[in-house]
Amino acid sequence: MIDRRPPEDASRFLPSDPHPSLAALRAAAAECTACPLHLLGTQTVFGEGPPKAKVMLVGEQPGDQEDRAGHPFVGPAGKLLDGALEAAGIDRSLVYVTNAVKHFKWVQRGKRRIHSKPGAREIRACHPWLAAEIAALRPAVIVCLGATAAQALLGREFRVSRQRGEVFASPHAPHVMATVHPSALLRAPDQATRERELRRFIDELATITSLLE
Ligand code: URA
Repeated sequence: MIDRRPPEDASRFLPSDPHPSLAALRAAAAECTACPLHLLGTQTVFGEGPPKAKVMLVGEQPGDQEDRAGHPFVGPAGKLLDGALEAAGIDRSLVYVTNAVKHFKWVQRGKRRIHSKPGAREIRACHPWLAAEIAALRPAVIVCLGATAAQALLGREFRVSRQRGEVFASPHAPHVMATVHPSALLRAPDQATRERELRRFIDELATITSLLE
């Protein structure tokens, strides 16, 4: 018989408290087995940052280094992001960083674990955690880094290539913007493209500061 039940999402792992703190959410997310990615990742990599942060940055999913360390954006993309935030005049310690999907999805290639893009089902399964983080933090500004985060918060029709840098009012936050993922900058085909794209990324991040005044 065909199983027509919708795939499970993380809702049943949320704390019973209707207004859980970020710390309570983090503890509950550590036990999440709502999608098969918990079998692949070493641990749940939950968001991090001050509970009063006005800015939330949302990436795709933890990478290899984040999976081992248990912290978001600590690998090469995170280092690039740190530099870009500093260049944009934004103190990363005042920003909450998280991911649309909280387990590392990867495939084995030789000895290496290669990043594999999360699918719509995994993004949907993990969405209750992102929604709960937003509800607990109530950020003034959310920045989606790349297409997966934009899909999670702005819908599947949203195209970062066409709408990057635009600021929207949304049910999630007074200001939501999407831009490229820092990994895309690391993959730029040549130095000139990388520098140009990095400058654009920094300029987009810098627009956040005016939204916080
Ligand atoms: N890429 C992401 O989207 N998130 C991380 O935490 C690291 C790399």
